[in-house]
Amino acid sequence: MIKIGLIGCGFMGSMHANSYNIIDGVQVTAVADIRRDKAEELAKISGAEIYSTGMELIANADVDAIDICLPTFLHTEHAIAAMKKVKNVFIEKPVAFTPAECDALLKAQEETGAGVQVGQVVRFWDEYVCLKDAIDTGKYGKVINAVFRRLSPRPTWTWENWDLELTRSRGAMLDLHVHDTDYMLHVFGRPNNFNTVISHGGEGNSYTMTIANYDGFVVTSEGTWDLPASFPFEMAFRVTFEKAVMEYTNQGFTLYTDEAATPIKLNKREIAVQGGGNISDLGGYFNELEYFANCLIAGKKPDKATLPDACASVKFIFEEMEKAGNAIL
Ligand SMILES: NC(=O)c1ccc[n+]([C@@H]2O[C@H](COP(=O)([O-])OP(=O)(O)OC[C@H]3O[C@@H](n4cnc5c(N)ncnc54)[C@H](O)[C@@H]3O)[C@@H](O)[C@H]2O)c1
Repeated sequence: MIKIGLIGCGFMGSMHANSYNIIDGVQVTAVADIRRDKAEELAKISGAEIYSTGMELIANADVDAIDICLPTFLHTEHAIAAMKKVKNVFIEKPVAFTPAECDALLKAQEETGAGVQVGQVVRFWDEYVCLKDAIDTGKYGKVINAVFRRLSPRPTWTWENWDLELTRSRGAMLDLHVHDTDYMLHVFGRPNNFNTVISHGGEGNSYTMTIANYDGFVVTSEGTWDLPASFPFEMAFRVTFEKAVMEYTNQGFTLYTDEAATPIKLNKREIAVQGGGNISDLGGYFNELEYFANCLIAGKKPDKATLPDACASVKFIFEEMEKAGNAIL
């Protein structure tokens, strides 16, 4: 049994604990949170021991791998300490808070040889995996244009509201938009050129739009959390190929051709999750952690959503912020 130490028992820590709980061969045996009640809630799931800070867990817990679900501004110091302690580390996205922190993480990985996977979960989300396959195989012809969209109500659920403070999260740009930036770089590579705008109408950089030029096509991505609590979260794309359009929205996943609009059926697994729901409710979160767990079990370093990948995405976000003339660099 591979023993996992989970640091940060908030929103994402709970998603991770529920995922590990239904993955064979791994067990969360230690959890840490400065909020005792949050740590206790997750400790109950798998009978884990409790630590009161992330650093205390890293120093003392007998674990094989460490998973960091802390607020972004705390990732780097914990991730470097974790890399020195265990062979494999999972770090939530965005992997770090600044390009300099990215370089420090890369240096630590080189020095320790630790395996690192980052929670760039869209790379593991079934619909986005299916889209990448269509792009790579060219089965619908070449890409003509692509649009990505990520809309969220304001995140008012985090510890001390850290996510809403630019000095602790860098706002929607680094926190939310990084998903689509990372996916864009993953499937299309770096664009020839791009431009980014930020709307200053809302709070901080809470609305952003990037237009990226590739050879022969344009990719647009919009991200905002300038939306009221009742607004449904949506991640979406519409990719126009020569022979078809693939669209994913809250309404469904559809392939459009001149002949028909056909719902795309994916083979989603149905395994019950503690507290209700099933694996498909955990979506890419389950898929990415199952991949991480299988690497640990096989004694391999993860080679998807790697540290260099995630650092490239954070650095690209900083380029986007600079293009947008943002003052929070
Ligand atoms: N992959 C995704 O789609 C996704 C979605 C949401 C959040 N995230 C990422 O996950 C990370 C955590 O976000 P969240 O929404 O879970 O935040 P959160 O505020 O809900 O959880 C963070 C937890 O860390 C705890 N904490 C703070 N300092 C600590 C310390 N020193 N030691 C131990 N615990 C400490 C807090 O008490 C809190 O419970 C962030 O990097 C965020 O960007 C990723």
